[in-house]
Amino acid sequence: MVAPLKVGIAGLGTVGAEVVRLIETQARVLAGRSGRGIRVVAVTARSKAKKRGVDLRGVEWAKDPLALATHPEVDCFVELMGGAGDPALAAVEAALNAGKSVVTANKALLAKHGIKLAKAAEKHGGALNFEAAVGAAIPVIKTLREGLAGTGVNRVYGILNGTCNYILTRMEQEGLSFAECLKDAQRLGYAEADPSFDVDGHDTAQKLAILASLAFGTKVAQSAVYVEGISSIAPEDLRAAADLGYRVKLLGVAVRTAKGIEQRVHPTMVPKSSSIAQVMGVTNAVTIDGEGIPPITLVGPGAGGAATASAVVADIADVARGIRANPFGRPISHLHDTTKAPMERHEGGYYIRLLARDFPGTAAAIATRLAEQKISIESIVQRHPNGGAAPATGKAAPVPVILITYATHEDAVRRALAAVQRDKVISGRPQVIRIEKN
Ligand SMILES: NC(=O)c1ccc[n+]([C@@H]2O[C@H](COP(=O)([O-])OP(=O)(O)OC[C@H]3O[C@@H](n4cnc5c(N)ncnc54)[C@H](OP(=O)(O)O)[C@@H]3O)[C@@H](O)[C@H]2O)c1
Repeated sequence: MVAPLKVGIAGLGTVGAEVVRLIETQARVLAGRSGRGIRVVAVTARSKAKKRGVDLRGVEWAKDPLALATHPEVDCFVELMGGAGDPALAAVEAALNAGKSVVTANKALLAKHGIKLAKAAEKHGGALNFEAAVGAAIPVIKTLREGLAGTGVNRVYGILNGTCNYILTRMEQEGLSFAECLKDAQRLGYAEADPSFDVDGHDTAQKLAILASLAFGTKVAQSAVYVEGISSIAPEDLRAAADLGYRVKLLGVAVRTAKGIEQRVHPTMVPKSSSIAQVMGVTNAVTIDGEGIPPITLVGPGAGGAATASAVVADIADVARGIRANPFGRPISHLHDTTKAPMERHEGGYYIRLLARDFPGTAAAIATRLAEQKISIESIVQRHPNGGAAPATGKAAPVPVILITYATHEDAVRRALAAVQRDKVISGRPQVIRIEKN
């Protein structure tokens, strides 16, 4: 009879409490699947007094995360506190250095210190599992690390932040502004009081950095990710996208190019017919383009206590089974430094919305600036606000012009639009959204 795996859990919040509950309610299933029992022997959090709705009788309360990480009774240390610094970092390092296995859902920690921690795991023989860190219940880490071990990956991209997808979905379906939808997301608990980490794209960037490492065998490098958020997206962009056969999603995209690995997070127009375009609300999705096989899209809940605990407990079950995969899919010595492809050389189609001043020669001036940069236009739509008639003041209002370009380079688009602004033929700043074809 194999002894049960003894687990210590640091953090008993949304995810941690749910992990305790799941290990208890699924005890028989887990023992059946892992070939041995899984038992929570010790826990810790900031407040011992707080009610958590889980039965912790018979479970030791460790004085702090570090004491729990090095507790002689603990085989597997589960870090569910969050944050890229201490106590999460110190505790995870201490557990790994003591030869224990670690399970964590902490994308911030992995995006910043993933390689250092994977080295410690490799050196001391413990597992470092983090399925829940990206896409919560969606098994995307395992898919890249193990399921596609024999398949080259050319591109991985996805909707990795439910808050942003919820906001964009509501904006599209109800014609509401970004600010209105954000307020609703906060009221419903989908967005934090300070939403900037989500809506400015940084949460997606941390997750993308982890996926890129697994997909391309590079060292995790959050600083290599180009990041733009969704706050500049207006309902008219979503209407125009719909008319042109697209939807706008905040995507994280990591792609192999001739100039290195491009890692970017930005609002993206995707064809309405694509799998990723069907993903609405808080749901997450990841598409993987593998060599020689059609794209694989995984869809599911990317947050929430139960969804995240599902992945955490699956990682613990792997430790119980004695499975130890290289954390980033390869031995550390096989991971190479990221060659960052410069964003200025990004190649693709662009959606450009301009407010053109309504006087003769405007269209020609815009067309000239684009032609100077060798940008070809796939389609152009003018949406006259007054059906063509000048307002009663006699002063014509600017006319929204929407352009879709054929594939071109980012720096060409930036140069052309800077020249158009200098020409003073448009009002305000142009809106630019990159197009990702499937
Ligand atoms: N929530 C999700 O949907 C989700 C999804 C995917 C990944 N994750 C990741 O899962 C992790 C946990 O998230 P969560 O939503 O469960 O967070 P949470 O609800 O804020 O819970 C954090 C827990 O950590 C404890 N804690 C914080 N600082 C501590 C310290 N210095 N010493 C001891 N304990 C400390 C807190 O103790 P008290 O309870 O006593 O305050 C709390 O129990 C994070 O890395 C997060 O990114 C969460």
